[in-house]
Amino acid sequence: MTDHFTFNPIELLDVARHNRKTFSCGVEVLDIFIQQKARRESPELSRTFVLTCSELPGEIFGYYSLSATRLSSNDLPDHIKKKIGQYGAIPATLLSRLATSSKYQNSKLRVGETLLIDAIHRSYRVSHDVASYGIVVDILKSPTSDPTKFYERYGFCLCVETPGRAYLPMHTVRTLLERAELI
Ligand SMILES: CC(C)(COP(=O)(O)OP(=O)(O)OC[C@H]1O[C@@H](n2cnc3c(N)ncnc32)[C@H](O)[C@@H]1OP(=O)(O)O)[C@@H](O)C(=O)NCCC(=O)NCCS
Repeated sequence: MTDHFTFNPIELLDVARHNRKTFSCGVEVLDIFIQQKARRESPELSRTFVLTCSELPGEIFGYYSLSATRLSSNDLPDHIKKKIGQYGAIPATLLSRLATSSKYQNSKLRVGETLLIDAIHRSYRVSHDVASYGIVVDILKSPTSDPTKFYERYGFCLCVETPGRAYLPMHTVRTLLERAELI
């Protein structure tokens, strides 16, 4: 594998141009989604974005999906719950899938980080028009992988009540994007 790839801007999945069939990240549900289901998934349910490069047209290095969700105020720490607890549930953005092709996981290319930052940046931009408390992820664990620490390193906090769910508040997002000089 060469390290000399020029990434294209992350874009919406286009089944006519992007080769979904060979994508594999080692987590079956994420592989089946992109290989078989993404084509039929209604754009009203989720949007899927892919990372490709100019040297290997069509090859998907990784992908993520976004949709809207609700975050239970019971999942937030007490000091925040005190302020917004009366709403029960608050609007949030769901990072419903995130996957790097097995070929490029933990490589110098930092595919997962590139995708995550892009998903965060996109969610932040949208939150200026449609309010969102933050980005929510339901962490997919398998006997061989647990990406919890991957999310924690970017500031995601584990939900208080819902097991395996984590969130990144928009105010933390702002700091992260400022540090990355993206805003
Ligand atoms: C989790 C996943 C998206 C990470 O993508 P990746 O391309 O391997 O990650 P990157 O190479 O961009 O890593 C960025 C940093 O996170 C670290 N990291 C990557 N995966 C990690 C993990 N599982 N736990 C802790 N740290 C991790 C890397 O070591 C790197 O750290 P560094 O700054 O010290 O060098 C990828 O492993 C994957 O697709 N796994 C299978 C599918 C999956 O579990 N998806 C998440 C569903 S919720």
